[in-house]
Amino acid sequence: MPHQCAHWCGNPPVKQKLLCICSLIRRCGGTFPQGKAGERKVDIMKLMVVGGGGREHAIIRCLKKNPEVTEIFALPGNGGIAADAACVPIGATDIDGIVKFAVENKIDYAVVAPDDPLVLGCVDALEKVGVPCFGPRANAAIIEGSKVFSKNLMKKYHIPTAGYAVFDDMEAALRYLDTAPIPTVIKADGLALGKGVIIAQTRDEAKAAVRDMMENHVFGKSGDHVVIEEFLTGPEVSVLAFTDGKVVRPMVSSMDHKRAGDGDTGLNTGGMGTVAPNPYYTPAIAERCMEEIFLPTVAAMNSEERTFQGCLYFGLMLTPDGPKVIEYNCRFGDPETQVVLPLLESDLLTVMQATTNGTLADTEVRFSDKYACCVITASAGYPVSYKKGYEITMTPEAAAHTYVAGAKLENGKLLTSGGRVTGTTAVAGSLADAIREAYRLASGVQFENAYRRSDIGQRALQAGNH
Ligand code: AMP
Ligand code: GLY
Repeated sequence: MPHQCAHWCGNPPVKQKLLCICSLIRRCGGTFPQGKAGERKVDIMKLMVVGGGGREHAIIRCLKKNPEVTEIFALPGNGGIAADAACVPIGATDIDGIVKFAVENKIDYAVVAPDDPLVLGCVDALEKVGVPCFGPRANAAIIEGSKVFSKNLMKKYHIPTAGYAVFDDMEAALRYLDTAPIPTVIKADGLALGKGVIIAQTRDEAKAAVRDMMENHVFGKSGDHVVIEEFLTGPEVSVLAFTDGKVVRPMVSSMDHKRAGDGDTGLNTGGMGTVAPNPYYTPAIAERCMEEIFLPTVAAMNSEERTFQGCLYFGLMLTPDGPKVIEYNCRFGDPETQVVLPLLESDLLTVMQATTNGTLADTEVRFSDKYACCVITASAGYPVSYKKGYEITMTPEAAAHTYVAGAKLENGKLLTSGGRVTGTTAVAGSLADAIREAYRLASGVQFENAYRRSDIGQRALQAGNH
């Protein structure tokens, strides 16, 4: 049988069937979308990344390592991302604007990073006009978009998670709380900018949270339905996984630091720092998670005709009864991405295209066995209230290791424009070195009212296994 590349280059394959020289030298990654066999394409990859935070900056830097990538647009990006991509002032939820831009600029591949455009159907809309995309369609993004959906999915398919009850009637929820075990966890059903989860230590606190969500509508429509959940204990682990709906390729595990203050005190934030890998996530636990959680979740979504393709984020708690799902996200985590992607040794674009094309089984996803630490520099007062508009300065060394989350360019100056401003990542041969180096580099990022936690990674260091 004559062997010819199954992809676009037309070369004879190196080995028997699919493995062709073009995928080895990453000309098409084996999955170049528009090429036909035998047709040699000019090497131009125009990419578009939807979003504008530290996570998107990390994704863009990682995509840029591929020499085939000639142009990256960030919609809308931010003042710091502008150093690595062409920022276009189109909001991440302006689906019509995003689609129009992609068509007019002949985008070859799009990455939709944040939750809201995914839930709004950005991938569906781009696919409709023929732009291949990384990210789940809206019918699969619901796994993050509705906690009622995800809890019911886990119950139906026996995926371990906290016990729960769902309410759409406030009086019934309040009555339930008269006898529910305390502490308890109250969750608004829909997206709530990461703020829709209240851990209530007393019955009164729990009832106040229900009233806030269902009567005072502090999270808008997201609070029309609430989930009241059993309080779980144990170390938390974030596992991001690539999936094409058939196979699951977990990335290196990570540990977020959600509270604003040292020693895990203060309010919940979007995340004040991360380390990878997470020392609590042993190979035995990883195997158990694959069997009991990851594969069953992907299979459950298929059974519901909601095939998930993209990055599925498993927020896990390692309870005394085994690993349980705290939350699913339909996207890369922030700031988990800022430690996970610097450890990726395979080409990110190739892996992303494989999730889109359903060829992940044939694609290597390899991570370094090093350690990474990301330290967030925030505006003092975050997550409640803080001043913006301060000039940011970075040493060139710090800038090379820093992902910018909340900054804008004004008259050539980089100014703070958000709560989390930057994330500085170091990679090293030991966790202790990665932490030390991340803090050393982060000290090269300066602006008035800058605030960092001083203990990112300390809990992981104490846990051992590194
Ligand atoms: P989320 O906004 O869904 O990421 O949740 C915020 C944090 O609330 C999680 O990282 C956990 O620390 C905590 N949490 C959520 N659900 C539970 C639960 N059932 N038991 C204990 N802690 C929880
Ligand atoms: N770091 C948590 C999240 O991205 O949801």
